[in-house]
Amino acid sequence: MMNNKSGDAARLTPPYTAGGLPSRYLLAVILFSMIHIVPAIAGTVDDYWAPWVTKLTTSSATINWRGETDGLGVIDYATASYYDAHKRFNETVSCRTAATYQHVHLAGLNHNTSYVYRVRPSGNPAAFENRSFRTMPIRGRFTFVVISDPQEGHTYSEERRFKYVADAVAKETDVLFILHGGDNAGHDDKALWAKYFHVADGMLAKFPIFPCIGNHEYHDPSNSDNPPTPANQYHWSYDVPLHYSFDCCKVRFVVLDSPDPNNHNGDDPHTSLALANSQAPWLRQQLAQRMAGTFTINHHPIWDEGRTIINPDLQPWENLYLKYRISANFAGHTHDYQRYMDERIPYFVCGIGGGRCADLVGPFARGYRCGNCRNLGYIRVTVDPVKNIGTAREVIVGYVLEDDSDEIPHLYDPPIIGDAVTFPLRR
Ligand SMILES: [Fe+2]
Repeated sequence: MMNNKSGDAARLTPPYTAGGLPSRYLLAVILFSMIHIVPAIAGTVDDYWAPWVTKLTTSSATINWRGETDGLGVIDYATASYYDAHKRFNETVSCRTAATYQHVHLAGLNHNTSYVYRVRPSGNPAAFENRSFRTMPIRGRFTFVVISDPQEGHTYSEERRFKYVADAVAKETDVLFILHGGDNAGHDDKALWAKYFHVADGMLAKFPIFPCIGNHEYHDPSNSDNPPTPANQYHWSYDVPLHYSFDCCKVRFVVLDSPDPNNHNGDDPHTSLALANSQAPWLRQQLAQRMAGTFTINHHPIWDEGRTIINPDLQPWENLYLKYRISANFAGHTHDYQRYMDERIPYFVCGIGGGRCADLVGPFARGYRCGNCRNLGYIRVTVDPVKNIGTAREVIVGYVLEDDSDEIPHLYDPPIIGDAVTFPLRR
């Protein structure tokens, strides 16, 4: 395109412009500006958030990115085997709707197949590098990762803590997807979310993500006395319902919505019995279907330190978890690691993604089994539906000495296993 336009310019002849430049020079300057300057006007570097994959299935995936205001874009993609053999893509999809936050559905994919893709935003086609993901298998064993609460502290940024977790996840080789327990950033704020996606870049370049909303998604960056925000950055970034489910190899994953903006203290939404009850009929439907296993995730923990009973607001969910004998439950919100067993069902608190550390303080419920604090890490879960076994390992990447400080974490390289438990998927 640039050569064609240059050719048109070369065929122009004087007269000269008032500034003394030949018109062909002026046209060249205009063309250069269109190519090189317009993208800079359309969006700054911080406007471009490298792609992340959501809504993964056996045959589809959604490619998301943030680009210039009301931009478009093109996705080139190919199976990894095709790309390796030919060093080029053989499929292309274009955006149909101009938007700042893009969510483009890729359909007709092969199951259990690795894909390479590259997004070319309309305002800056060179903004992003190649990235990859693998579609879900139809059957068999698979591994996923649970992370939660990566938000920065009062005296440190996400580079000081969450980055070590994200980079460790990025080194995983056999992970299919990431289950995120919420509190992506401290506030519903573009700059903080830009940092989150920047720090998470390595793991999101390889693994799709299934998010769960946390209370910080609603926090108002301008004033904590204000009511909760609409959680715009969360919705614009992920484009998923507040509660939803997905299946992998006949194992079900149920993502629940625990922070209630109608029950808040300033900008902080708490749990409420009304919100839990509103999802209970849907949850019952999700759990009643006979599957090879069922995992649930809710941001606020059912079981937590400092109390001997469950969060009473979440009792409707707990009743259903026990009635339908789920495989395991995950939560975040409290910034430490805890594991409980209730009627032999594991309940994990996985708030070790990098947020300000919480001390592990009793009393504890009777089902409390173990816990640790001031560690950075995630949970890696391997699921084998044929053998009816799930194995969850707490992967500790490093530790810090203070709850909220700018210290450089002490790292384990490779990471160490802090806790491990096996459990039946179907009971
Ligand atoms: Fe939280």
